[in-house]
Amino acid sequence: MTALRLSDIASTALDAARTWPWVLAPLTLPRGQAYILQHVLRNRFFSSVMRPAWVSRCPDQAIVRRTISQMGEELVYDPAIKAAHTKILWEMGRNVGLTDAQMNATVPETETAAALGLLEHLARDWHWTVGWLGSSIDEFVLTALPGHNFHPDRWIEHLGLTEQQVFFFRYHLSADLEHAGIKVWRPMEPWLTPEVEAQIRRGLPLILEAQRLFYAGVERQAQRLATGETPAA
Ligand SMILES: [Fe+2]
Repeated sequence: MTALRLSDIASTALDAARTWPWVLAPLTLPRGQAYILQHVLRNRFFSSVMRPAWVSRCPDQAIVRRTISQMGEELVYDPAIKAAHTKILWEMGRNVGLTDAQMNATVPETETAAALGLLEHLARDWHWTVGWLGSSIDEFVLTALPGHNFHPDRWIEHLGLTEQQVFFFRYHLSADLEHAGIKVWRPMEPWLTPEVEAQIRRGLPLILEAQRLFYAGVERQAQRLATGETPAA
């Protein structure tokens, strides 16, 4: 079997992402609101479950330090913006007409719950490299896939938001470039024994299916919001 290349993981992920719901669909207000509501859940899950589950088994101190500092930036304080990322996420939600009560009370769509359940299994029970890919592959995709709705320009163009109002997305495009992608995954290479490579080969389709399910959940909620349903508060 040929050696596993990080560039193959990246190109496989990009090919898959082109087929996911929501990602390349025309951005509407319901689609924007649904993204924030489901992303709030994913954001909490990544800091409370996903990253702790694999990083606690990771023997590479540099990777552990970077991942835990990323959790700190999410939940506690990012010196670059003098706030936690949760603060700018909630601001982003308000900018598309959501209330704090709606963001606090948001519940997962069926597919979102399935996505997070699958990712939790991968992070807890598979090799830590599979968990790391599971928590970083979407950050790579959203920075590398042209036309991805994560891009702040889409929110300006389609929803009429100002540059100031899309700060959450603008900031994360640069932050996530540092958090994911081939260069960032490079420290994984010394740990890629044939057994670990085999796990990654089997795990990658599951990781990508979890991402597809996440976006299917976003799209499902977007469809309901488009017919006039109000998010729970
Ligand atoms: Fe963040």
